[in-house]
Amino acid sequence: MASPTPPLSPTSNPLPWHLLPDNASIDDDGRLFIGGCDTIELVREFGSPLFVYDEDHLRARCREAVDAFGANAVYATKAFLCKAMARLACEEGMGLDVATGGELHVCLAAGVPAERLVFHGNNKSVEELTLARDVGVGRIVIDSNDELDRLEALHAADGRAPRVLLRITPGIKAETHEYVATGQDDSKFGFTVATGAALEAVDRAVASPAVELVGIHAHIGSQVFRADSFASAVETLGRFANPLGLPELVIGGGLGVPYVEGEEAPTISQWATIIQKAAADAGITAGLGIEPGRAIAAAAAVTLYTVGTVKYLPGIRTYVAVDGGMSDNPRPVLYGSGYEAFLPRAATAKRDNRVRIVGKHCESGDLLVREAAVPGDLAVGDILATPVTGAYGHSMGSNYNKVLRPAVVFCRDGDARLVVRRETYGDLLTTDVG
Ligand code: LLP
Repeated sequence: MASPTPPLSPTSNPLPWHLLPDNASIDDDGRLFIGGCDTIELVREFGSPLFVYDEDHLRARCREAVDAFGANAVYATKAFLCKAMARLACEEGMGLDVATGGELHVCLAAGVPAERLVFHGNNKSVEELTLARDVGVGRIVIDSNDELDRLEALHAADGRAPRVLLRITPGIKAETHEYVATGQDDSKFGFTVATGAALEAVDRAVASPAVELVGIHAHIGSQVFRADSFASAVETLGRFANPLGLPELVIGGGLGVPYVEGEEAPTISQWATIIQKAAADAGITAGLGIEPGRAIAAAAAVTLYTVGTVKYLPGIRTYVAVDGGMSDNPRPVLYGSGYEAFLPRAATAKRDNRVRIVGKHCESGDLLVREAAVPGDLAVGDILATPVTGAYGHSMGSNYNKVLRPAVVFCRDGDARLVVRRETYGDLLTTDVG
């Protein structure tokens, strides 16, 4: 890159290795392999940008959850969903949390048995509830009295009474971004404990012939690092749920993952131990369930981009533009989330230049890494990678500017399997009937 060396960034070290998938390795030239596949070759074969998942990493995280919670470990598909992912989670013994008719449809198309599905959502439509009841999902998590009204109306027509959990809002403010905190009283989700609405909902559900109430559900938020937030949530939930004597208590997902140098989070096993100890201390005897999404998928993938332009502004900054952006990773724009960046051709190289990595969309807010430390020889044509992009990247992607969504490959033992193909211009017109 033709630029004088800007001041050293505090993150000018080589990429912290723990941000990469479990089965990341480098060859003698420092080139990155994932699941035994050469990342630079993957771009040649499948194009750019590209989501590259380490399949064994995904499987190992699922198994960690199942080892601790058995079939009550449920993967939150909103983090990342395609048929291959749904099958993988199912094969490893997890249930699957779906939050819309669309997620339900993909899981059914993947061949996931309906009884393994838990149906969430704060505004399920009559059509979605009808589909869920017709296929026989394992649990519906009721979020409101309006939803219970709809279930009662459907029951009046066919007499079926699905198994349900009631989602409660326990009044816990988790330490995370306000957009993904869900346990506090001021929330659109669930029945509030503090107002008495949660207890009233329990009474109503117990008395209703339209549902079979089997338990209580809560989810305090996402990207939560602090184990004590979960421990105090479990204690509060125990106080509410123990007197009810229901067989199931689901404490949701939310375990955070490190995205950048210096961040740390408990592993799934450590999280499980904390939850189980807190549950024992709180005298909880109900079967405990969890719903991790991010902790399963985030660190399993890196996104590979191609650098297209480098704009050096003396005294201001250097912009490095790649061939994706807010359409494949909206998290930096939505939440101000931080990421690292590196060059897979030199994965352990020192990163002593500071640049801003931006996308190709038509707005200044389209940034991927606000302050990225990258090697000084980064140049146009390089493949650039951002790690920890396996959750809430592909799943929150869009076609903004009619940019095509990237392909997704699963790598394992040196084989790369295309699981989602790159979109074509033709795909952009499939719903355009004008
Ligand atoms: N269960 C329920 C009921 C949820 O609402 C969620 C996430 C999960 C489980 C899984 O949470 P996780 O383990 O992945 O933290 N788009 C945001 C995250 C939104 C999370 C929404 N609900 C982000 O990119 O940070």
